[in-house]
Amino acid sequence: MKKAIYPGTFDPITLGHIDMVQRAVKGCEHLIVGVARSTPKNVWFSVEERVELVKDALKHLVNVEVQVFEGLLVEFARKVDAGFLIRGVRAFSDFEYELQMALMNRKLAPEIETMFLMPAEEYSYVSSSRVREICALGGDIARYVTPTTLEALQSKLISHQHTKDTPRRSAAGG
Ligand code: COA
Repeated sequence: MKKAIYPGTFDPITLGHIDMVQRAVKGCEHLIVGVARSTPKNVWFSVEERVELVKDALKHLVNVEVQVFEGLLVEFARKVDAGFLIRGVRAFSDFEYELQMALMNRKLAPEIETMFLMPAEEYSYVSSSRVREICALGGDIARYVTPTTLEALQSKLISHQHTKDTPRRSAAGG
């Protein structure tokens, strides 16, 4: 693959996402991690914060670039001239949703292929919303995120507590 996109919301990036990027980059010359600006999800982090955390988590990798996108993913792929979209399938339950999205993207842009990768099994149950939820409930999430992301989650939690807008409500929203 010449150029590929690994898209997501990354609210926040987890070790599972990093594992995926490390696998994807082995198969392409250039990987763009596409951070979705707008999302129906109730996010904890602004797009700028999400991008900063993604950049920090991937700074050890070459040939990886982080970009924000909005609108259709396939239009973003066309704009940056990427021929491949990378998605991870963690468990069987991901498959139907991923298949639907891949087929829809193929209808919208037949020239763009979706490639599926399997993340490491130790992260197969990790998701950003689980990490946020456990963090909000005081559980240990150090094994799922980088130290910088851990710090960002903890500060976010404290600032939410001060504004009485508990992230627990956000986490439940997705
Ligand atoms: N490790 C850890 N977590 C992982 C993971 C991995 N390897 N793979 C997936 N996840 C998590 C994600 O963090 C996310 O968790 P969350 O729901 O708790 O936030 C979840 O699994 C997957 O969510 P999903 O909604 O499938 O993906 P996403 O949020 O990562 O990204 C977009 C979705 C942005 C790619 C998609 O909405 C999109 O393309 N939007 C653009 C608009 C568009 O083109 N729409 C038409 C699509 S057909």
